[in-house]
Amino acid sequence: MDKIIDLRSDTVTKPTDRMREAMMNAEVGDDCYGEDPTIHRLEALAAEKIGKPAAMYVPTGTMGNTAAIMTHTRAGDYAIMDAECHIYYYEHGNLSSLAGIMPIVMNSADGVPDLDEVEAYLQRDPAKFPKTSLICLENTHNRRGGRAIPLDRMSAVHELAQRYGVPVHLDGARVFNAAYALGVEAREVVSHVDSVMFCLSKGLCAPVGSMLAGEEDFIQEARRARKRLGGAMRQSGVLAAAGIVALTEMPDRLGEDHANAKLLAKALSQFDELALHPEDVHTNMVFVDTKPLGISAADFADRASQHNIKVSVYGPMTVRMVANHDASREDVLYAAETLVDLVKSLGSC
Ligand SMILES: Cc1ncc(COP(=O)(O)O)c(C=O)c1O
Repeated sequence: MDKIIDLRSDTVTKPTDRMREAMMNAEVGDDCYGEDPTIHRLEALAAEKIGKPAAMYVPTGTMGNTAAIMTHTRAGDYAIMDAECHIYYYEHGNLSSLAGIMPIVMNSADGVPDLDEVEAYLQRDPAKFPKTSLICLENTHNRRGGRAIPLDRMSAVHELAQRYGVPVHLDGARVFNAAYALGVEAREVVSHVDSVMFCLSKGLCAPVGSMLAGEEDFIQEARRARKRLGGAMRQSGVLAAAGIVALTEMPDRLGEDHANAKLLAKALSQFDELALHPEDVHTNMVFVDTKPLGISAADFADRASQHNIKVSVYGPMTVRMVANHDASREDVLYAAETLVDLVKSLGSC
């Protein structure tokens, strides 16, 4: 096969023809003056789809999360989150360097902090200890296998947080994948948090952009945080136009990616030593432990690339593959067959 099959991430997806057409024809104005009609349309649509009163367009998911943390908290406060969450693991310490927050990280198999541990922090006397002013969740949870966190797990955290008057922010970069996997509307997932960031530029294929959504006064204040972060833009309707197509046309097709990820996992599950269980693949991500194969993740990626398959080196011995719009069923079938042959050729399984 001549085509490069890129399974490193769903962020590699290119804008669709409909997006490019919409960008070309977008009506624009200066959004810093509040005059971009396409931004207004996207923000209204996003708020409606996600079931929150207001939404704001941001250039990246990282900026959306950072603006949310800056808005919910004050410097010196604690924010509680999973040790493997994107905000803590990948966002270059923004929560500390830009929001002045001390992260309290907790470990759990499914990425939801233990309620008793959380409550112990919430009960601390704020006169004596730093105040816990935010809890962050992630759904789907990237580093926990792309897992879709069940709604009762989210609502348990939210109910506890509400009892102490503490908001919950969701890193919902892939919230539409979570919704698809859980068989509910995205607004139902988000009903268990106070604010959400979700990305248009991952499985939904927009070239740029994420949304931050929440209450009206929260978003109004978050606009100041976005300005401080350099994320207030001018004729950004040209980008928002693709976001509108992403939100209206793309969520319903995410099931294809989930089915393709399952197919890949099923093919590789024939090797008992890999201990890869297709039922653990909830959404569009497949993780492979290369240790039983006797090679590093980098070596595995290198061998796969010789067959035009790109995978992501996720750890020294972990490879991640993400099914996405730009890898068709035929591409994934080819990748599955090729990777099965690759594993066989290693002879250790
Ligand atoms: C779970 C999660 N949250 C946040 C982000 C950040 O998004 P961005 O790359 O647009 O800053 C990502 C990006 O991969 C992500 O996977």
